[in-house]
Amino acid sequence: MTKHAIDGSASPTGHASRRRFLTGTLAGGLVAAGGSEAFAQGRKKKPIGPNPDNQPPNVPDWSKTLGDGVADHPYGKPSKYEAHVVRRDVEWLTASRQSSVNFTPLHELDGIITPNGLCFERHHGGTADINPFDHRLIVHGMVDKPLIFSMDDIKRFPRYNRVYFLECAANSGMEWRGAQLNGCQFTHGMVHNVMYTGVRLRDVLEEAGIKAGAKWLQVEGADSAGMNRSLPMQKALDDCLLAFKMNGEALRTEQGYPLRLVVPGWEGNLWVKWIRRIEVGDMPWQAREETSKYTDLMADGRSRRFTFAMDAKSVVTNPSPEAPLKVKGRNIITGLAWSGRGKVTRVDVTLDGGRNWQEARIDGPVFDRSLTRFYVDFDWQGQELLVQSRAHDETGYVQPSKVELRKVRGVNSIYHNNGIQTWLVRANGETENVEIS
Ligand code: MTE
Ligand code: CO
Repeated sequence: MTKHAIDGSASPTGHASRRRFLTGTLAGGLVAAGGSEAFAQGRKKKPIGPNPDNQPPNVPDWSKTLGDGVADHPYGKPSKYEAHVVRRDVEWLTASRQSSVNFTPLHELDGIITPNGLCFERHHGGTADINPFDHRLIVHGMVDKPLIFSMDDIKRFPRYNRVYFLECAANSGMEWRGAQLNGCQFTHGMVHNVMYTGVRLRDVLEEAGIKAGAKWLQVEGADSAGMNRSLPMQKALDDCLLAFKMNGEALRTEQGYPLRLVVPGWEGNLWVKWIRRIEVGDMPWQAREETSKYTDLMADGRSRRFTFAMDAKSVVTNPSPEAPLKVKGRNIITGLAWSGRGKVTRVDVTLDGGRNWQEARIDGPVFDRSLTRFYVDFDWQGQELLVQSRAHDETGYVQPSKVELRKVRGVNSIYHNNGIQTWLVRANGETENVEIS
């Protein structure tokens, strides 16, 4: 295995936006470190490091005054010291109302659940601001009796609670031709993991009565994009949900309030938000999002189509470019693994670019088609690391390297990049997105 790429020669280092991230993220880390050093040398008046007045045995500032009462927090917010933990977008990557995307700050999270306010968003025509009392779901086409449901009607079907990841098919899509975005929020942050409460799509369809020969559904949103996709009937009957709650509370507007389709393990584009119409038919509709988009152009010019399931994938979230290693000695490597085909059964981690692998410790619940948390507890003595993780799922599938993936799929694709991610950790702890070949 040659490691020439780690000096940056095999990655597009001339890429302006990539450099912007590099300076943006790493400079942030360095300011903090340099700040306390300068204070120690007496060059600065105000310390950036811990205020000694607040350290034991002193009584810290926050213990000296009466705090806010409950009336100040009708709806809770994170501490002001967590204000940097936000979804972020990439300036040059579709940030308009016509088409926009932002990313989950994976490196700031732990456990497996994504908090509602941090779930990445992907909109093809902006969000829809829907009054739930006026919202209706229409079921028509090859059914015995076309039906229109209000939200109250939907909520009277039996309810189910399920934790599932949603990954945009374009997650890591900018990395097909080499390392580009220097941060795991941007390389892998088009994924979130939520406990949904909803009703089975099967029960709603059966209420309308599915006619013989019906094989496909057209599912359509009430946003200005009217985003629509064709969904195989088999999947609809199997495990799809119409969800109205996420992590216990109503869906957020951004996530499809008041009703969204949940399509476990399948690409995010099928999870229609603000769902308003389901048409039952016998053939796919050949919608824009399954012809010109969400298809994978192969090296020979042909396209893979209807690539629904998300293959097993993983990423080390810490360390990563936004979360460099800070101290020598005891450190924790952590990350997330997932598979659209079942449970994650094992995650391997390497610190030397794939020469030696060790099995990571999985902790927290392991659900079917859910993010799964892993850890490696290790001792860092300042050596350079090439950190990677590799997911296995219950079908026996093992996450491929990017080299292996490109051999099969070429480099023209945008979607379904589940190749192994490499982070180079330098001797000073700074971490960079690289590729090894
Ligand atoms: N549904 C509608 N109605 N409109 C949209 O633009 N975007 C799709 C899907 N459902 C979209 C939609 C895409 S491409 C993805 S990846 C997911 O919603 C994103 O879901 P999220 O915004 O909850 O992360
Ligand atoms: Co998407």
